[in-house]
Amino acid sequence: MGLNVIMMGPPGAGKGTQASRFARERSLLKISTGDILRDAVKEMNPIAVSAKTKMDRGELVDDDTMVAIVRHRLTQPDALCGFVLDGFPRTVFQARALDVIMEDRRNGPLVIIDVSVPEDELVRRLASRRICSNCGTGADPFGRSTTCKKCGGKLVQRVDDDQAVVLERLKVYQHVTKPVLEYYRLRPTFRTVNGAQAPEVVARELDAMIEEAAKASIA
Ligand code: AP5
Ligand code: MG
Repeated sequence: MGLNVIMMGPPGAGKGTQASRFARERSLLKISTGDILRDAVKEMNPIAVSAKTKMDRGELVDDDTMVAIVRHRLTQPDALCGFVLDGFPRTVFQARALDVIMEDRRNGPLVIIDVSVPEDELVRRLASRRICSNCGTGADPFGRSTTCKKCGGKLVQRVDDDQAVVLERLKVYQHVTKPVLEYYRLRPTFRTVNGAQAPEVVARELDAMIEEAAKASIA
């Protein structure tokens, strides 16, 4: 039986951090729509041209493009045993489209996790985040190194972590993405984790929650 997880939450909540770890530990495919778009920008892929302008302003990329990207990715063989979605769905339109995709898959429960973190903590995290300009790996925000541990690339601030853009991303989250939580809230597999704790504590709580929700859905 497969397992499908959606990691939701505002910018800086730790979706990417927890989704990568969980997917690695459970050998599941992680699909991060933000990473897919940033890779497309780096490769000068045609979808990237208008996407980049929107991402740099903190706006959302259009629903049809995002649904097409995720639908295509979920048809690949490595998605058969399940997935961890990071950054999708972000609109009610995308959530409805994912439900349609899931109807055809029938490969295990869909667990929805809301990673909840207060806004002042999000702003603090994003102001200090540094990523590798070459491979995109996140760096220790309190570390002194200016180069990536993995590939030696230069550590930089993500373009959309500029303070004004962060405020716009938080506004978009409140108005457009928060309603997606209401779309899912009454499902028996919806859970909220307190993301304002040390990453390893969030991980422990999250793992227990996912296991319990997945079991409850098939009991
Ligand atoms: P995306 O890349 O998804 O960005 P985001 O949702 O704004 O979230 P972040 O990646 O900034 O934060 P995160 O929650 O992943 O936190 P992280 O683990 O990195 O999207 C970027 C853009 O792409 C969007 O604005 C939009 O334009 C476009 N886009 C993407 N998907 C789309 C879609 N479906 N539809 C339309 N447009 C789309 O952690 C953040 C920092 O905090 C790191 O430094 C980390 O080390 C640190 N940290 C993590 N956990 C903890 C902890 N527990 N305690 C302390 N620090 C922590
Ligand atoms: Mg992320």
